[in-house]
Amino acid sequence: MASPLAEDEVVRVRASGKINLALRSGPRRSDGYHELATVFQAVSVYDDLEARWADPGQFDLRVRGEQASLVPADDSNLALKAARLLALTSGNRGLGCSLDLRKTIPVTGGMAGGSADAAAALLACSVLWDLDTGPDDLLELGAGLGADVPFCLTGGTALGTGRGDRIAPVLSRGSYHWVLVLSEAELPTPAVFRRFDELRGARSGLVTPPELLSALIAGDAAGLGRALTNDLQPAALSLRPELKRVLAVGDELGALGGIVSGSGPTVAFLAADERSAIELAVGLTTEGIGREVRRVHGPVPGARLLN
Ligand code: C5P
Repeated sequence: MASPLAEDEVVRVRASGKINLALRSGPRRSDGYHELATVFQAVSVYDDLEARWADPGQFDLRVRGEQASLVPADDSNLALKAARLLALTSGNRGLGCSLDLRKTIPVTGGMAGGSADAAAALLACSVLWDLDTGPDDLLELGAGLGADVPFCLTGGTALGTGRGDRIAPVLSRGSYHWVLVLSEAELPTPAVFRRFDELRGARSGLVTPPELLSALIAGDAAGLGRALTNDLQPAALSLRPELKRVLAVGDELGALGGIVSGSGPTVAFLAADERSAIELAVGLTTEGIGREVRRVHGPVPGARLLN
């Protein structure tokens, strides 16, 4: 194991953000979490992480990118927590790392940015430190860090059950073109789940819409657009009513479907193809809504090595 590696060795990992194509939630459990049945899709919005050796017990992080000022670089950062957890689990007290994170996944945007960074750190540090950590071990460590971390390790299109941390692949054909409307304001996930509990609207059960799964198997973008569903959306809209207009504008501009991504406030619109996505992005930009309009595609892989 470990250390006679060149001091200047760098391990680079890219992790992707996600959209929830379907999210069904049960009531709050005694541990504070909600039982979910959700279909994740990893999309082409990325955080890149570089990991280098540091002195034993030394763990530090630098964050760059447009929203870097919103991301804590201290021990509360999920990437640092992931590195420390992996080091602890390895039992080797000689480990340390210096992490350099370049963010483009929206911060507190409902796209699992923090979880993606944790997934990236687990993978990067296990390679940097030359640990014998298998994929299942990484998934288990990831689940301990956050409900979305296991999906961020696997990527693609997948069903998440339990807290969303038990992952099974979903058959999906083709590539989907999305237009994201990023929001000015953050929307913390716990606050959205709290509002969800307050609203306690008609419960749909933990059933993933069968028509959504059939649309994915068939590569049917129109069918997928119709079947997008998110039990957290009424809660997110109640906390951020301005998102209703975003959804309405995307609909008027001919999106196949629109949905608040996870707990929001990012809104994701599905387009029929790349050309329609460009037109939709131009239309949404012209309307001047949101902080930024971004075109992405999915599915893409989860956390992966770049070198
Ligand atoms: O696991 P993670 O730290 O990403 O979750 C953030 C918060 O989101 C939790 O503290 C909880 O309030 C809420 N959550 C939930 N049920 C889930 C996933 C997340 O209530 N299945």
